[in-house]
Amino acid sequence: MANIKFFSGKTTPIEMHRVRIIQKLNLLSIDERLEAVKRAGNNTFLLRNDDVFLDMLTDSGTNAMSNDQLASMSQADDSYAGSATFYRLEKALRHVFGMEYFLPAHQGRACEHIIARVFVKKGQMIPMNYHFTTAKAQITEIGGGQILEIPVKEAFDIDSTCPFKGNLDTDALKQAIAKYGKDGIGFVRMEAGTNLIGGQPFALQNIQEVSKICRSHGIPLVHDVSLLSDNLYFCKQREAACKNMTIHEIAKAMAEASDVLYFSGRKLGSARGGGICTNNRQYYMMMRELVPLFEGFLTYGGMSVREMEALAVGMYETLDEDVISQGPQFIEFMVGELLKLKVPVVTPAGGLGCHLDARGFLSHLKPTEYPAGSLASAMYLVSGIRGMERGTLSEQRNEDGSEPIAQMELLRLALPRRVFTMSQILYAVDRINWLYQNRHLVGGLKWIDEPRILRFFFGTLEPIGDWQQKLVAKFKADFGDSL
Ligand code: F0G
Repeated sequence: MANIKFFSGKTTPIEMHRVRIIQKLNLLSIDERLEAVKRAGNNTFLLRNDDVFLDMLTDSGTNAMSNDQLASMSQADDSYAGSATFYRLEKALRHVFGMEYFLPAHQGRACEHIIARVFVKKGQMIPMNYHFTTAKAQITEIGGGQILEIPVKEAFDIDSTCPFKGNLDTDALKQAIAKYGKDGIGFVRMEAGTNLIGGQPFALQNIQEVSKICRSHGIPLVHDVSLLSDNLYFCKQREAACKNMTIHEIAKAMAEASDVLYFSGRKLGSARGGGICTNNRQYYMMMRELVPLFEGFLTYGGMSVREMEALAVGMYETLDEDVISQGPQFIEFMVGELLKLKVPVVTPAGGLGCHLDARGFLSHLKPTEYPAGSLASAMYLVSGIRGMERGTLSEQRNEDGSEPIAQMELLRLALPRRVFTMSQILYAVDRINWLYQNRHLVGGLKWIDEPRILRFFFGTLEPIGDWQQKLVAKFKADFGDSL
């Protein structure tokens, strides 16, 4: 975002875009919100968007598109094979990453599926800076592998000043290679803008070191670039070596360090779809076989041509610092306001969204009462804001049925890019503050119905006791007839 100073001395981020298409919002009364959250089994994934005021569930497929993206959609070339749209997207990706081969897929997890089938053999370890839910499920359920998380130790410090909490611990990687050997490791995975630890970046230098280690042992380095735009911005801001590089130079240097890149186009490029890029012809050929089998023909891979056009334009826009700085700067502002109010929140501010530390927020709850899930439910109740639980509920039970208590228990309030205005952020901060002042009223959750795989998507829960009624009563006492 451009450097604009206020006469007042305030440092408020300014939108470097204007709103030209809008969607009307609706804020239900708190009684209606209580009904809605009950219907949804206290699972924010199961709320209907009509019942939501500010949808901070995710930035996936919810980022605002630019006028150029929308305009590009009308030139989409609807042909099953050899569509001009495909070649435009391929050209954009070649430009951004400097990689020769591109395979389209319908979204990020479809890329993970293909990669798991090609690169994971049963029993192999997949070292990574940190897992993402769908990546882990594909590696374990489809590939029969196991994940090995080896981030730097600061990754789990809620309250940290470490600029690169998404870095992978290279000593731990060397030890893993010594222990499991080249054949015991399917690939090494680096995730840009590491989602589940609060959208935290890794340094360019870190991925380059990881790459060197991988290449010296002949182990492929697979790089999930779904959240690359935030990571690029942070490298430019926080890494001395990147200060004088353009965003494009940083992106190319990251691609050069990777053997395979994949992304969710629902995040990267603010569009839809997904894809895999590589310079390695052998890898390309192995993965290519699976695209028509699971996705669609090689020139669309399950995407609509309209979204492919928008994605191509979105890829070029990813290189524009004004575009990619909007999200991180709004998040930094929100985190800063919450810190002033002493609300426990992940620092430094990352990408993707603002992450409340549910363990600190609801310290009176037991880990098995799902503090982050309870906080998500309470947050919706008091504000109509829908966040996403990123904690124990998002894990999968151990084979013996025990509960795998997550390393971090977060409520993610995603800020889809270019969607929310400053007053909406201020509303969110106000309601979080109220909830924090009344946190002692919030109780835990227990399962009604718990699916085996990716249980957080469809599972339903109920409050332990009548804490929701008490919270509603206090809200009414404090806010009167305010929504
Ligand atoms: N990798 C990362 C880092 C992601 O954040 C996601 C999706 C995926 C892969 C899978 O991509 O949804 O297109 O299949 N994250 C979404 C989220 C779901 O809300 O954080 P997908």
